[in-house]
Amino acid sequence: MAVNDLFQDRLSALQVMQDAPVIPVIVLQKVEHAVPMARALVAGGIRMLEVTLRTPVALACMEAIAREVPEAVIGAGTVRSASDAQASSLAGARFAVSPGYTHALGRACHDLGLPLLPGVATGSEIMAAQEGGYTALKFFPAMQAGGIAMLKAWSGPFGDVKFCPTGGVTPQNAPELLALPNVACVGGSWLVPADALARGDWARIEALAREAVALRRAA
Ligand code: 3PG
Repeated sequence: MAVNDLFQDRLSALQVMQDAPVIPVIVLQKVEHAVPMARALVAGGIRMLEVTLRTPVALACMEAIAREVPEAVIGAGTVRSASDAQASSLAGARFAVSPGYTHALGRACHDLGLPLLPGVATGSEIMAAQEGGYTALKFFPAMQAGGIAMLKAWSGPFGDVKFCPTGGVTPQNAPELLALPNVACVGGSWLVPADALARGDWARIEALAREAVALRRAA
């Protein structure tokens, strides 16, 4: 997808998943890290950025990236309630990722026009998300909850669902996951290590992003 398309169109959850092989799961402790980190990821070829709502500065970080890094598409992670979704949307998030699914969250994101990748780990949760109109789902926690074998088992009854496995995904196991027909991308925290943020090692984050983009070719 060209950058212009990204900004003219409202995104679908599937477009979010298909932009790059990996969605980085990001935990930011300082607002001043947000912009250089986002620029490093974009320079490495990753522009869908999931900033988790796990720190008090998360919303301010989203605002800073939305304002100063127009090449990035900022998403909110760890979205657990309608109010999380509303606050994220106001802060500039253009997609949301949740660790689970509730109809209240599904409805809130629908009403906000915020594409949602809801987390699922069982057949019943997939069916609930589908009932809410969601078919591009995060499989969480992927490797802990069955990994590759689970994704293969789901491809029969849930052949119309695309997954983003997240949780325990590494550069080593990502190629096998990405080779599965029902996997659109993977998610992982390894692209933005806490120590690289603390040291301001943006070159390392850019290099990790480049390596993540190359995973598609390896798959
Ligand atoms: C998370 O919610 O923290 C994500 O699942 C990332 O998990 P990871 O650290 O195993 O990549």
